[in-house]
Amino acid sequence: MIIGAPKETFPGENRVAMTPNSARALQKLGHECIIQSGAGAAARFSDEEYKAAGVKVVKTAAALWKEADIVVKVRPPKDATEEKRIRKGQTVISFFFPAQNEEQLARMKDIGATYIAMDMVPRISRAQKMDALSSMANIAGYRAVIEAGNNFGRFFTGQVTAAGKVPPAKVLVVGAGVAGLAAIGAATSLGAQVYAFDVRPEVAEQIESMGAEFVYLEFEDDQDGAETGGYAKPSSPEFLAKQLEKFRELAPDMDIVITTALIPGRPAPKLWTKDMVEMMKPGSVVVDLAAERGGNCDLTVPDKKIESDNGVTIIGYTDFPSRMATQASELYSTNIRHMIADLTPEKDGVIVHNMDDDVIRSATICREGEITFPPPPLKVQAIASKKPQAAPEKTPEEIAAEEAAAARKAGRQQIGLLVVGGLLMLLIGKYAPPAFMQHFIVFVLAVFVGFQVIWGVAHSLHTPLMAVTNAISGIIIVGALLQIGTGSGIVTVLAAISVLVATINIVGGFMVTRRMLQMFQKS
Ligand code: NAI
Repeated sequence: MIIGAPKETFPGENRVAMTPNSARALQKLGHECIIQSGAGAAARFSDEEYKAAGVKVVKTAAALWKEADIVVKVRPPKDATEEKRIRKGQTVISFFFPAQNEEQLARMKDIGATYIAMDMVPRISRAQKMDALSSMANIAGYRAVIEAGNNFGRFFTGQVTAAGKVPPAKVLVVGAGVAGLAAIGAATSLGAQVYAFDVRPEVAEQIESMGAEFVYLEFEDDQDGAETGGYAKPSSPEFLAKQLEKFRELAPDMDIVITTALIPGRPAPKLWTKDMVEMMKPGSVVVDLAAERGGNCDLTVPDKKIESDNGVTIIGYTDFPSRMATQASELYSTNIRHMIADLTPEKDGVIVHNMDDDVIRSATICREGEITFPPPPLKVQAIASKKPQAAPEKTPEEIAAEEAAAARKAGRQQIGLLVVGGLLMLLIGKYAPPAFMQHFIVFVLAVFVGFQVIWGVAHSLHTPLMAVTNAISGIIIVGALLQIGTGSGIVTVLAAISVLVATINIVGGFMVTRRMLQMFQKS
């Protein structure tokens, strides 16, 4: 098959759906690749690079559409001129958003084309390599932080400098899906103090593992925003009210707010209201990734950067991936290449459009003049896990019974050890000289007492504990002082060295203890 990528016609779109790297991989699947001259220029891929990768460069879009069996694109056809180029039996692969684009979908049906929408790839493990929405959201999350930093007049990280102390920037990320987690990662790595909220309670662990703090809501039904098919479901009005109350509490303190809250197929929920913006300090920044769907922030203007009356910058760009076009094109073209690999099971350049395959079925929105959207429910489970089932809570009686059973078990083990130890001592005592036995018994008792003392102490406290027990070497100082004036010169020197070393041991032990305990103290 001939796979072709035209130049994107959407204003400001810098990405391209085929890169030299993806073209090489497509050729290994037995396909031929063509590209419209200059299609990769905005993403910094020259025609020469494509030629070196074995791609045929054609001069015009018309020639490309005519020659290609499969056309790969980023955006759906922009206008009638582009739509007219699609011919019956041709396959087009791009983002399409069929739920919001029903009229255009009907036109694809009339043309008799096959359309694969990259935004319809389901979020299941097997399809992750084709999940272009996630690839782009990852870039958007990262870029949102860079854009925020560019408009924020302070450091992200806290610093202590000769010229004064700089507090870290406080960043709130609303919605911890792919874009949100990427934003958390970028903001924490720049040193900001990051807080994040999501209606799905199961993401708390991911948020915390990335060094951010999960903003908990006190709400009876903590499953309120639990997901369906890898996405959140709409919140109840009560939950939303509680959420907004919490955000109002946080607003005066936050320097940067990045909103990414999305429920597929719905307008963006309004979560950062006008009064919250008014509560923020001048110079603060709101980056609204959901701008394309109306925005999570009341004041967002899609595709614009505006400043509120109180000096808060609100960024509503909808083209973050296009602002990192080289990276975005590499990732997107790789997603497309994996989709085509699934359509070419024998790697022989022959397309097998297997509608029994969950991923191909879900992504195909129109097939040879028939609309196949919406897809049937998935046969396999979506990636995102359900909230783990909490273990049933134990009653105080059950806890007490469990503790008593554990204590009895430990007691039985100790008695067993004592009996074995006693028998061994008797056996050794039968053969060893009495002087040895006296020292040996002291040694064994010391080991036993030491073990008993340390066993019950938490592991994290072992170092301070051992440091304190260093003080026992005070006995060496007593012995050395008794010897220091009594013997020869060499005894005096040895005694003095003993005093010095034992003192270092004791003082050092207490210093280590102090430092360790400071680590457990809240400032
Ligand atoms: P996602 O579905 O992975 O994440 C959305 C998150 O929002 C989910 O974790 C969901 O639980 C959460 N959420 C839903 N309702 C919420 C609420 N009321 N409060 C708090 N959290 C809520 O989506 P993804 O892929 O991370 O995309 C996020 C947003 O970024 C989308 O709106 C998407 O359209 C947008 N986007 C914007 C781009 C741009 O250039 N501006 C580029 C790429 C994506």
